[in-house]
Amino acid sequence: MKTRAASADDAAEMGRVLREIIDHNGRQRPSDVDFVMGRYIADPTSIQCTVAIDEAGNVVGFQSLKKAVAGNPYDTPEGWGIVGTHISPKVHRQGVGKLLFAATREAALQAGLEKIDAYIGADNSSGLRYYDAMGFRTYRTPEGIVQKVCDL
Ligand SMILES: CC(C)(COP(=O)(O)OP(=O)(O)OC[C@H]1O[C@@H](n2cnc3c(N)ncnc32)[C@H](O)[C@@H]1OP(=O)(O)O)[C@@H](O)C(=O)NCCC(=O)NCCS
Repeated sequence: MKTRAASADDAAEMGRVLREIIDHNGRQRPSDVDFVMGRYIADPTSIQCTVAIDEAGNVVGFQSLKKAVAGNPYDTPEGWGIVGTHISPKVHRQGVGKLLFAATREAALQAGLEKIDAYIGADNSSGLRYYDAMGFRTYRTPEGIVQKVCDL
């Protein structure tokens, strides 16, 4: 397993990862190439989007890191990072999330960030446990959501 920065060539496979997650947890969301490009790869607030690649060369997950700007959809304080993690259920609990966060953390430090926000569904126990394990702590609980912060 290795990680590298995502490019436009990864968009279709990243969409496939999103569909594998939807099939697994039933939480509907867009997953087409245009959505992946706009949300993750070509978003002007993106600092880095990292993909995890398995031995066969397939994308098995990705993690986006963006800079919070005024009016961002998560109400994250301006200047913080915002992280999002999407890993195929086929490889859960194999350390892919940990590997991705090592790359994201490094990118955040390089970008001079001091804090990273994670916006997690309150019913998403694996997501909550994952971010706890990555060193995040809860700082805000809007209705149905847990927002955690990692101090870099
Ligand atoms: C949450 C998610 C990112 C975890 O990724 P992962 O590759 O399975 O995580 P890792 O294998 O690197 O796990 C790292 C640590 O996180 C914790 N963790 C991860 N998944 C967990 C789970 N289901 N239950 C309990 N702890 C968990 C553990 O401490 C784990 O270390 P360990 O396996 O040595 O005990 C992944 O399940 C995922 O993409 N889910 C769907 C989308 C999602 O929920 N994204 C995040 C919230 S928005």
